[in-house]
Amino acid sequence: MTKILIASDHGGFKLKNEIINHLKGQGLDIEDFGCYNTESCDYPVYAKIVAERVAGGVNNGVNDGVNDGVKGILVCGTGIGMSIAANRYKGIRASHCTDTFSARMTRMHNDSNILCLGERITGSGLALDIVDIWLNTPFEGGRHKKRIDMI
Ligand code: RB5
Repeated sequence: MTKILIASDHGGFKLKNEIINHLKGQGLDIEDFGCYNTESCDYPVYAKIVAERVAGGVNNGVNDGVNDGVKGILVCGTGIGMSIAANRYKGIRASHCTDTFSARMTRMHNDSNILCLGERITGSGLALDIVDIWLNTPFEGGRHKKRIDMI
């Protein structure tokens, strides 16, 4: 089972809470690193908190072969600022997704370890589908592992 670390800025606060409720409803282990209200704040601060912990690979000790280790979800207004910031950290493969096909492919081919979403772009129904698919799609490995190692 994956431990999921989540954070947002003010632009992603509402969607972040919807994601937390959705994942807690599935019994998943999720930790919220803020922000905790809609007061204006800076997305790089929250990207750093989650990216450093995901890169560190903190594990909750339950390995099921699909969702092993730790993954992050970052939400801002567009999802773009969070993805730019998170991808500055070594070992992070943050994927900004606005559709379910990309969410699936970025797990299968890129072994994405942080999902970035934009509250002002993606409605919550679609966003929750993206989250579910991203969390439940395994990495294919093989030729894709070689390519990741080249990054
Ligand atoms: C905040 O207004 C907004 O710039 C931020 O949430 C994000 O969309 C940045 O990329």
